[in-house]
Amino acid sequence: MSDNQAIIGTGCVETKSRVRAGELAWGGEYLMVEPEHFRVDYAINPYMDPRDQPDPAATRDQWSAIAEAIGAAGGRVEVLGQRPDAPDMVYAMNLGLPFMGGPTGRLAVLSHMRFPERRMETESAHAWFADRGYTLHRFGSDGVGAHFEAGDAFAWRGELVVGYGPRTERLALKHLAHELDITVRGVRITHPGMYHLDLAFCPLDETRAMVCPDAFDAASARTLLGLVPDPLVLTEAEAMTFCANSVVVGRTVIMPACPDRVRGQLEDWGFEVVIVGVSEFLKGGGAIRCLTNPLDVTLGRDLRTR
Ligand code: ARG
Repeated sequence: MSDNQAIIGTGCVETKSRVRAGELAWGGEYLMVEPEHFRVDYAINPYMDPRDQPDPAATRDQWSAIAEAIGAAGGRVEVLGQRPDAPDMVYAMNLGLPFMGGPTGRLAVLSHMRFPERRMETESAHAWFADRGYTLHRFGSDGVGAHFEAGDAFAWRGELVVGYGPRTERLALKHLAHELDITVRGVRITHPGMYHLDLAFCPLDETRAMVCPDAFDAASARTLLGLVPDPLVLTEAEAMTFCANSVVVGRTVIMPACPDRVRGQLEDWGFEVVIVGVSEFLKGGGAIRCLTNPLDVTLGRDLRTR
């Protein structure tokens, strides 16, 4: 108990210097994977077609523009090199779910990818987090045990919202709740084009988030809308621009695209919209959130421990 209080105390002090009232306390630090070997070698989502390969120079420019936009908004980026045998590793969001705080200071739940094509990425993620002193958890490997992909999980108002279905298995939610001692809210994803939660849900600040109800079954859509006091509800067509696959640094929303209606609402709420085109990464079925993994989500601050 006293350990926990000390951690909560430290988190609050750090937060006050950077984050203004009402903003998300997390979102200032990201891990990105340099796209040295980004290709479309196979098709594990509806967007991938190996006949449509990314252009290497445009890929590099778009990736750098994201990192620069994060820096300009006041965030920080850490960079990991890409394995030659892992063309999808650029989508760093799926490497694992890292946390600061907790009894050991830093911990991460590594992904257990649904598709064998991506499972080697977890070995590189393991090495990166282990080198930095993280305590590591994983719920399975090589297809044995529950699948979990970190693009399906977001801290939201003290709880972890986790999408399951296309990638993460429902059993992983029990493991997350048990291993991390947190409350997990599961939502079932049914839309094939929104195969990760981060395509349909984007926390904006303490009370606002983009939500596309069409990504979920009816009960889950109600659950998720019930968790968001001020939702920016996206139509399916709006979500298909990947506008929810955005990164929020304070009041800046770095987006791959933004329909006019969505921009109007974000600006009314006081957000600054920054668009960074990611045509090459859309060929792999991912955009800005997929390419970045937030490192500063803090247990005891952003997630209540029980
Ligand atoms: N090609 C990758 C896959 O299908 C894209 C991952 C997108 N990442 C995300 N967090 N939504 O796994």
